[in-house]
Amino acid sequence: MDFEIVNGSVVSLETECLVIGIEADAQLSPSAAAVDQASHGFISALTAAGDIKGKTAETLLLQKIDGVTAKRILLVGLGKADERHDRNQKKIIKAILATVKSLSLTGITVALDGLISEQDDTYRQVRQIAQVATAELYQYDQTKSKKADPYVIARFEIHLADDVTEEGEGALVDATAIANGMNVARDLGNLPGNVCTPSYLAQQAIELANQYDSVTCEILDEDAMEQLGMGSLLSVGRGSVEPSRLIVVKYNGGDADMQPHVLVGKGITFDTGGISLKPGAKMDEMKYDMCGAASVMGTMNAVAEMELPINIIGVIASAENMPSSNATKPGDIVTSMSGQTIEILNTDAEGRLVLCDALSYVERFNPKTVVDIATLTGACIVALGNVASGLLTNDDELAAELTLAGDYADDRTWRLPLWDDYQEQLDSNFADIANIGTGGAGTITAACFLSRFTKAYRWAHLDIAGIAWNSGGKEKGATGRCVPLLSQYLLNQAAEEVADDDEHDHAH
Ligand code: BES
Ligand code: MN
Ligand code: ZN
Repeated sequence: MDFEIVNGSVVSLETECLVIGIEADAQLSPSAAAVDQASHGFISALTAAGDIKGKTAETLLLQKIDGVTAKRILLVGLGKADERHDRNQKKIIKAILATVKSLSLTGITVALDGLISEQDDTYRQVRQIAQVATAELYQYDQTKSKKADPYVIARFEIHLADDVTEEGEGALVDATAIANGMNVARDLGNLPGNVCTPSYLAQQAIELANQYDSVTCEILDEDAMEQLGMGSLLSVGRGSVEPSRLIVVKYNGGDADMQPHVLVGKGITFDTGGISLKPGAKMDEMKYDMCGAASVMGTMNAVAEMELPINIIGVIASAENMPSSNATKPGDIVTSMSGQTIEILNTDAEGRLVLCDALSYVERFNPKTVVDIATLTGACIVALGNVASGLLTNDDELAAELTLAGDYADDRTWRLPLWDDYQEQLDSNFADIANIGTGGAGTITAACFLSRFTKAYRWAHLDIAGIAWNSGGKEKGATGRCVPLLSQYLLNQAAEEVADDDEHDHAH
């Protein structure tokens, strides 16, 4: 989809459909007022008749009207000024896209006068419009024999005042990259376990590296991981014929001596639970247990497209968790790369087993920060539902940065405590650590487990079990979260880096 910023008088725009806003209590927005004037009161006659009241996301479609060049006009309700939170903003954008889809429009011009959000931030508003619009038009068809109509809006225009045009154009560049990254993550999450295997994920990383000069990639096979002593990661794929992989994707956008930000993704391409087998109902959804990996891949795509001036390394710990006569059994003890021994009391707590070795591995990069992303616990869905990802870290500054990024990108996180009080749940009589807690606070004890392997650097953990996937119904499928959060976090890190650099330059 081609997004573009346009300026000028809304009444003389050449477009298939001009979208203008009606505020609460049928108040005309500036663009609606301009159209009203040009049409000698056509819009105010409609509001006076009560045909549109300006409630959030209400719509009314009009055919060409006198005095206005647009072929159609879509009136959209903006609701009350102080109620234009992210949730309502999204509803408005979705309502516009519903009309676009039902009419199969090939062009549209949105002229909402910066009123779609209560926050007067052109960059943020434009980014949100472009990202939500792209997400609304996403169609999965890779494993269908009938391909979806290759339907795209050829031209999606956003009308802005002259003085904020540059800001809007910058927003479109970032939005396009992030939206593309979300689509990458969604495709990977939606692909079935028999297609999207650890080797398939590795292949995707190789293709990303082929696509960008700034990206390189290295795949570690089971022999290489054996050499490194990754007994924990390797124990998870033991029962599967699909070989496990550690995938390392490097994006080099900064100077070679700049410390990288590292993202580590859980890439369980199917989680049966192993010998601690899961119940059958909805087990198909466990193909999404690689959505941490998918959001790392999506974000690596986005940062490469945005050409961020920093270094970022994505690491994916990938395996398939199956029962078989070779499979790891409850009570088995393995030695992790860190040297710590682990008693595997439940083979369904496998995410932490692959992540811990990946987290030890990334020490070699002398990372500035490490964020791991994982569909780690069902308990996180109980705690936070499908609204926020769980955020666990003992680094308050990093927690603040991730929270801020999530709020800004409308991809929110909520922090849970990682107090030592929970650590003793992981004591084992037979090994250094058990892979499950003794009861309660499942999301926290999972993070406690990971914290035993992350002492060498600044680290945060994101549990995305609740937000990476829509369960059941027409919406069933991967969401592309948390690509927006991670991309925003890295955008902010890059901005900080550039500001520090400038300061440095001035000092000399
Ligand atoms: N992949 C699951 C967590 C999960 C469950 C994600 C449901 C999305 C939806 C993870 O590997 C798992 O099975 N966790 C167990 C941990 C338990 C055995 C301590 C869980 O949450 O039940
Ligand atoms: Mn599991
Ligand atoms: Zn899992």
